[in-house]
Amino acid sequence: MLKIAPSILAADFDRLGEEVEDIRRCGADLVHFDVMDGLFVPNISIGVPVLKSLRRETVMPIDVHLMIDRPVRFAKTFCASGADHVTVHVEADTVEANLEAIKQIHEMGKTAGISLKPGTPATAAEPFLKLCDMILVMTVEPGFGGQSFMEDMLPKITALRQRLDEINPACDIEVDGGINPETAMLARRAGANVLVTGSYVFSSPDRAAAIASLRGL
Ligand code: DX5
Ligand code: ZN
Repeated sequence: MLKIAPSILAADFDRLGEEVEDIRRCGADLVHFDVMDGLFVPNISIGVPVLKSLRRETVMPIDVHLMIDRPVRFAKTFCASGADHVTVHVEADTVEANLEAIKQIHEMGKTAGISLKPGTPATAAEPFLKLCDMILVMTVEPGFGGQSFMEDMLPKITALRQRLDEINPACDIEVDGGINPETAMLARRAGANVLVTGSYVFSSPDRAAAIASLRGL
């Protein structure tokens, strides 16, 4: 099933509750919540207090994308603070520590994902594929909204979809960065079924039409 996950990084933080209610009414399926620590990525965004507030404001599932160093340190905290899904980066720690993070996320009753930066090959996800509920393929360098989609990530999406079809067919593939109607179509054709969108949807004067256009409608 195709799901649209607006990233609140591009929302008006003065009115976050209203912004999230608006995208829900406009047809979004998930809220994408980008956490940056200024170390794993060269930027700092939002964290636990904002997640707790957002949890009180929306019934939509919250998809937390941890762009932080050694995410196992915080996996349980984000689960306990309102996340429905937590993704950690394969580059952010050892395989063992990331497997532990995924285990803890599942023990907290949430779904878990692993993410790959653009320079990381699909094979790096192999130890996690059977265990994850979602694989996040970054289609920009993580750290900032508003960048251009990297088309050379499309073969990685296809390779992961083929491998998942063999060993974990229920696992979703999410793409994040530079999604607009044209790049959404490319990503869907390559095998992605969860589309993160920040600037495209939040800057659109007609967000319902923008979300529908990402679905190819
Ligand atoms: C980038 C973030 C993205 C970003 C997407 O590090 O993970 O979620 O906000 O924004 P757009 O859609 O503007 O590329
Ligand atoms: Zn993200």
